[in-house]
Amino acid sequence: MTRRLIYAANWKMNHGPAEALAFAERFLQLTSPVEDRDLWFCPPAVAIRVVAEALRLRPDVRVGAQNVHWEPKGAFTGELSISMVMEAGARVVLVGHSERRHLFGETDEQVARKTVTALATGITPLVCVGETSAERESGRTESVIQRQVEAVLARVGPSDWSRVVLAYEPVWAIGTGKNATPDDAAQVHELIRFQLAQRGVAIRVPILYGGSVSLANVLSLLARPELDGVLVGGASLDPDRWAELVGLGG
Ligand code: PGA
Repeated sequence: MTRRLIYAANWKMNHGPAEALAFAERFLQLTSPVEDRDLWFCPPAVAIRVVAEALRLRPDVRVGAQNVHWEPKGAFTGELSISMVMEAGARVVLVGHSERRHLFGETDEQVARKTVTALATGITPLVCVGETSAERESGRTESVIQRQVEAVLARVGPSDWSRVVLAYEPVWAIGTGKNATPDDAAQVHELIRFQLAQRGVAIRVPILYGGSVSLANVLSLLARPELDGVLVGGASLDPDRWAELVGLGG
């Protein structure tokens, strides 16, 4: 069976509606759908609709939100519900990105709640896990990843995992230009798969790698069969570079 690769762009706090539309139009000129390859775009929430509309005729594209609240509505100033981002055109949501965890204090428990609500509402959660450099250096990579995955396992039953996508994103690799080696990434992916299998998850859950993925390293990373795709920040911000990157691998 050929692997279905996911190339997910996380634009973070870049590209408002006008820039996002210009990006989408340029991207359409440069690419056409490729079999066995899905392209996900996570613009800032205010640009979800414009990107979803611009790319609506592309069957290989899914648009996503970068964050949501777990409650369906209420007095949560500044937050967005899943049904709101879905109404704007999102079909995917990043959950527990390391910037949410480390800069905004998101906990394992909140990540699990968001994942549960995403599944119940019918949007695909892309759940991110990853260790900091201090955790890696003190030999705690395995226990940190296991704790983060376990928090989701505790709330999401084995059959629901067919609708979950994971991303391994070591915190020290994000935005630093220092990617995990293909071997290191593959090892953590295997660790996660083993943990899922031990807890009765029989499905092969796609696991993406993220952290300084670029044109220079994407081929060597995706050469490892343990990786089902990539989650890309900096190298996804320019349409020409991104179009080139999504053409590599597989
Ligand atoms: P980066 O970001 O590719 O700029 O390292 C990845 C991410 O944060 O998802």
